[in-house]
Amino acid sequence: MKTTSTGGKARPPSARSPRKVLVLHGPNLNLLGTREPHIYGGETLKDIGGRLAAQAAGAGIKLDSFQSNSESELIERIHQARESGVSFIVINPAGFTHTSVALRDALAAVRIPFIEVHLSNVHAREAFRRHSYFSDLAVGTICGLGSRGYDYALAHAIAYEPTK
Ligand code: DQA
Repeated sequence: MKTTSTGGKARPPSARSPRKVLVLHGPNLNLLGTREPHIYGGETLKDIGGRLAAQAAGAGIKLDSFQSNSESELIERIHQARESGVSFIVINPAGFTHTSVALRDALAAVRIPFIEVHLSNVHAREAFRRHSYFSDLAVGTICGLGSRGYDYALAHAIAYEPTK
């Protein structure tokens, strides 16, 4: 059986402890820092990524981050996550939150637990932002806490133990 090395003790990969976390960013989030900073803040994706990388390194977990403006690339990355043993996903689907059945289906198909993050409080904005194709499948959702929402989501991913 394939095992994961954990300080001398072998553990089956099926234990699914979050040793490998994937952070996914949807469309237009590459523009963070300049994109409507009164809504999304002044930090760039690189700033956020650097902070998350430090948090992951401190916790001894592997972290991959990926941003795309393309729905199909995000779907492919989710499929790949299953093959590469990702145990938890943090995703800000951005505009696809409100439109993408296909991205939702990808997450449902791979059955990797995930947290949905939004920088802004989507419930305090236009009515169309109140509907998400992801929230009912998510372990939880975080919105309105700015980029700190990613930090809290990653902290939860690090501590996450599946119930079954
Ligand atoms: C967002 C909210 C979405 O409604 C919007 O389309 C985004 C960013 C957020 O992080 O607040 O692109 O997901």
